[in-house]
Amino acid sequence: MSHPTKAIILAGGAGTRLHPLSRIACKQLLPVYDKPMIYYPLATLMLGGLREVLFISTPKDLPMFRDLLGDGRRLGMRFEYIEQPKPAGLAQAYVLGADFVGKDPSCLILGDNIFYGKLDFFRAALAQVGSGGGACVFGYQVKDPERYGVVEFGADGRAISIEEKPPKPKSHFAVPGLYVYDSDVVDIAKNLKPGARGELEITDVNREYLRRGTLHVKVLGRGMAWLDTGTQQSLLDASNYIAAIENRQGLKIACLEEIAYHQGFIDRAGLEACIADSPKSPYREYLEMVLKEG
Ligand code: G1P
Repeated sequence: MSHPTKAIILAGGAGTRLHPLSRIACKQLLPVYDKPMIYYPLATLMLGGLREVLFISTPKDLPMFRDLLGDGRRLGMRFEYIEQPKPAGLAQAYVLGADFVGKDPSCLILGDNIFYGKLDFFRAALAQVGSGGGACVFGYQVKDPERYGVVEFGADGRAISIEEKPPKPKSHFAVPGLYVYDSDVVDIAKNLKPGARGELEITDVNREYLRRGTLHVKVLGRGMAWLDTGTQQSLLDASNYIAAIENRQGLKIACLEEIAYHQGFIDRAGLEACIADSPKSPYREYLEMVLKEG
């Protein structure tokens, strides 16, 4: 086993709740303050040291992702793209991504999930699955667990059940859209049957790991922000949250070029090349500051 290097970003779905915004572009391309939404989950992966990313989206939207992000080389990364012909569920990512994943451990992140805070928990999960196999998912306390996958813990702190959008949730711990799996996930996903909403549910993948006794669930602390972007209001809240922090600190959250540089994916010349092909904008000025301050 090795430290995972591969990840899938799933950016499909109809996004109908954001109509008419979602007619301009799919949800994951809409702005969250000063960047397209997809930058945030991509930044999370990069901060976890993952450099090979497969983007999955609808036939209509995929060309826009490709246009925005390219082959990843300018960030010292490698990007691939695959169409999801119909929104058949999150777990389908591993059916479509089977060749990409091969026999390696990997991570799946949903293109609308924004994490802000110390990502040690994520790096630890990658290291754990990389060395010991199994799966690692997370629990995050929310007010409205019925909107999510919900994990229940026993007295010893181990997960005992996971349910998708239960009308009567057994806990307040939602499972965020960030999952780390060993290579068994591909076969598990291929053998799933559609769940109640007619889709291959990622929760059913997690339940299978739970049944096998190889699911680790880590609770995220209160210092971590996991933001929702599913409604007009929560999209605005996420923008305001990012804006408040960026404007207070003068630092950007999820600036991909800055992260690539600080992670050592690109060198000074690479960052200079990114600046050279950015149009005159506050974003370019920010990259110039990153370069100057080393
Ligand atoms: C999906 C998952 C759910 C998870 C959520 C996180 O829900 O099915 O288990 O808690 O993402 O964002 P969906 O976005 O498909 O409603």
